[in-house]
Amino acid sequence: MISKVLVTGSSGILGRVLYDKLLDEPDFVTYGLVFNRTTNAKKIKCDLRNETEVNLQLDSLKPDLIVHCAAERRPEIVSQNKTQAQSLNVGSTEFITKWAKENNARVLYISSDYVFDGTNPPYNEEAVPNPLNDYGVMKLQSEQLVINSNNANVVLRLPILYGIVEYLEECAVTILFKKVLDSSMTAPMSNYEKRFPTHCEDVAQTIVNMVKYLSKNGTGLPSICHYQAEEEMTKLEMSLKMAEVFCLPSNHIVPENPPTGTEATKRPFKSQLNCEKLKKLGLYHQPRTFSAGIKESLKTFLN
Ligand SMILES: NC(=O)c1ccc[n+]([C@@H]2O[C@H](COP(=O)([O-])OP(=O)(O)OC[C@H]3O[C@@H](n4cnc5c(N)ncnc54)[C@H](OP(=O)(O)O)[C@@H]3O)[C@@H](O)[C@H]2O)c1
Repeated sequence: MISKVLVTGSSGILGRVLYDKLLDEPDFVTYGLVFNRTTNAKKIKCDLRNETEVNLQLDSLKPDLIVHCAAERRPEIVSQNKTQAQSLNVGSTEFITKWAKENNARVLYISSDYVFDGTNPPYNEEAVPNPLNDYGVMKLQSEQLVINSNNANVVLRLPILYGIVEYLEECAVTILFKKVLDSSMTAPMSNYEKRFPTHCEDVAQTIVNMVKYLSKNGTGLPSICHYQAEEEMTKLEMSLKMAEVFCLPSNHIVPENPPTGTEATKRPFKSQLNCEKLKKLGLYHQPRTFSAGIKESLKTFLN
């Protein structure tokens, strides 16, 4: 039985939607940790790179389940500040899993399709990871900490996310809209890597389904689960769809040259996730279409 759930990264694009959804669930008491964004007084500030701070908060809140969302998710920033990123992306997971093990709590760790190299999709949960960049390596290290610490812990791998943002640069999908809006400039976009953009509301609902299942059944969730929406798109196709849903000019949006392989930060070509495990358990929330999701996410940014 789970009664107290703690969401780390509860100010991020995924964490804040998840936090709000869990608040609506009468069976759970929900807490949220944040770092810089402290505007919601109910959310608690905690630097997850500091073990003393982490233990202080966990000892006081005593969660039964920690949904660990906080991370530096931008691959270039991770590679440029490797030590700092390692202490957040892996160090925090070490502190959280250690506390959870000692206090009979569980961890649901949010991971990424970037643990795969993208050469042999679709990937099921047992497929052998082979990350291409530092971010993917760190996500995989955290996955292993989580799984090895307690076999009732769960890893949830996700693809590129989008949703309601505070500013367009907040996510790797909505940032494309800046170039879509400016038709005075040619906008080269990647037409190479295949992505499966997934709305945070759909992810959050799936996580709520998983938390309820864990609470009811004790265990029974696979150690690794995959969730993603079903539409395959390149960044060029996402940008053209944004123009289409708002009837904006799109002649300036053109394909950029494919990667040469010499890029500092490599990305998987097509890290499509097979989501059968969550589907079989009836926990897979049917995702919205990209057209519907992106229209809702971007409408406030139209002048
Ligand atoms: N976004 C994607 O496309 C994507 C794709 C696959 C997987 N994921 C994974 O999904 C999870 C959520 O990603 P997201 O896009 O929601 O991230 P995000 O919007 O970038 O939010 C990051 C969160 O981490 C918190 N944080 C940063 N530094 C911290 C620190 N030192 N101590 C405590 N908290 C700190 C931030 O807090 P403040 O804002 O308050 O500073 C924020 O709440 C991550 O684990 C990410 O790896 C994301």
